[in-house]
Amino acid sequence: MSSPSLFANPWARRARATAVPLVSAGLAAVLVGTLNGGATPVVQESFSSVSGVSSAVQVESVAYNTAVAAAAAAKPKVAVIGTGGTIAGVAQSRSSFTNYSAGRIPIASMVQQLQPEIGNVADVSTVQFGNAGSGGYTIAQFHALTLAVENALKTADGVVVTTGTDTMEEFAYWLDLTVQSRKPVVLTGAMRPWAAGTIDGPQVIGADGPANLYNAITLAASQTTYCFGTVLMLNDEFHAARDVTKGNTTRMDTFETRRMGSLGWIDGDYIKVGRAPARVAKCDTPSEWLTPFNLSTKPASALPRVEIVYNYQQAGGEAITAFANAGVKGIVTAGTGAGGISSAQSAARSAAANAGVVFISTSRVGSGSVTGGSGNIIAGDDLLAQKARLFLLLGLTFAPGDAAKIRGWMDTIGQAEWKVTPPSAIETGFADLATRIAELSTAGTINGSTTELLTDRLARAKSAYESADFAGAGTYLQNFIDRAKQRVDDEAARTALVDLATSLKNEISAASPAAKTVTG
Ligand code: SIN
Repeated sequence: MSSPSLFANPWARRARATAVPLVSAGLAAVLVGTLNGGATPVVQESFSSVSGVSSAVQVESVAYNTAVAAAAAAKPKVAVIGTGGTIAGVAQSRSSFTNYSAGRIPIASMVQQLQPEIGNVADVSTVQFGNAGSGGYTIAQFHALTLAVENALKTADGVVVTTGTDTMEEFAYWLDLTVQSRKPVVLTGAMRPWAAGTIDGPQVIGADGPANLYNAITLAASQTTYCFGTVLMLNDEFHAARDVTKGNTTRMDTFETRRMGSLGWIDGDYIKVGRAPARVAKCDTPSEWLTPFNLSTKPASALPRVEIVYNYQQAGGEAITAFANAGVKGIVTAGTGAGGISSAQSAARSAAANAGVVFISTSRVGSGSVTGGSGNIIAGDDLLAQKARLFLLLGLTFAPGDAAKIRGWMDTIGQAEWKVTPPSAIETGFADLATRIAELSTAGTINGSTTELLTDRLARAKSAYESADFAGAGTYLQNFIDRAKQRVDDEAARTALVDLATSLKNEISAASPAAKTVTG
């Protein structure tokens, strides 16, 4: 059944897929096609196929199918960013599964140990972002990690991030919410340390790290999860970052997606996708696919403190009060059942909410929805508390103190089903201008100081607009236009920048309350 033309290309193999169109599911997922080894007719051959690895997913998206076809046509580039954890751990002996020091082995050395086999799958480069246990990373380092992933994706087709498993689900959801690229981002790690004795010692018996790393690189290279957002791959299974959680302290099948199950699995050279995050349905409209949490526009110092408070029998309210008094901007409660908290916590929450702290209500149960909420108290639906905390932190970064806006994001991108409302013409206008400046700068059409100046004026205009200072936004955009006219020599570039800025200025002027009053 093999196709000579496909096998002529070393990076391509043939498989057969059933024609299952992308189906929007009402709730958590969309259904994707499955591979069938029987006598099913070939309906599509642009599935992922990386050096003998095949997966068959029929997603009705030009961008998705272009990405998987490219992976089949030429060896993909995968960047592996190492942060440490047990996967980089050194045990006392080959049989010492639980007694070890995490975050010791350099990522380059681990990748090297997968050669020559991994070299048949992808051209792999490495970045040593850190080498420590997962729990020690700060939110400022998370911010830097997002930028490191985005930087790697400028040249790589996919990124693998290795972390400790303890907070891997938080690393994954953070990247899922922040990385401004549709390319695959795959998190992996291990439950058993890699080596015994020294960093280049013999492998621990049954170490899961090598296979997990190999599979994660393979998954990223295959482009199977293009537009899925960040996924977490361990123990031959991959899961959606939003929904996955660590379910056991020690077992190698520790990661689970309660109620919904994994997205798929890797069996040797075959990647099976059972379901996909609903986000993939937006693959062909990047402005809808990307989240508003573009960290390149915010310094790490803009990220506010957000904490979690756990409820239990007769829980006191002091923790909430103390956090509020310490200047914490947001608090997630992990309540009992469908989000219930004690009367003492409830009184403390009301006082803090009245003082401007924004809350997200979640459940300590571990699955199921929390609904309701009003004012500064937002229902977290089925987000786990540790995920809701990252969501609130990012929400407060991009909409400080604005519970209504954050509730809107919770109802859309905070959900598994991604009910995205298209960005307004103004939001698109700001994004388009930023993209155009970046493109012209990269191409060398505008120099560094002009890039800086125009970026500054655009940022000021955006900040004024977001604070409802429409006149201020107009003034900054006019300044942008004047500077572009003075400083951009290339006529086509100048015209493009001036036209985009002028139409954005007009949109803002038409949207301003003053304009509405005048026009009735
Ligand atoms: C960690 O999270 O850094 C340690 C535990 C692990 O990697 O499994």
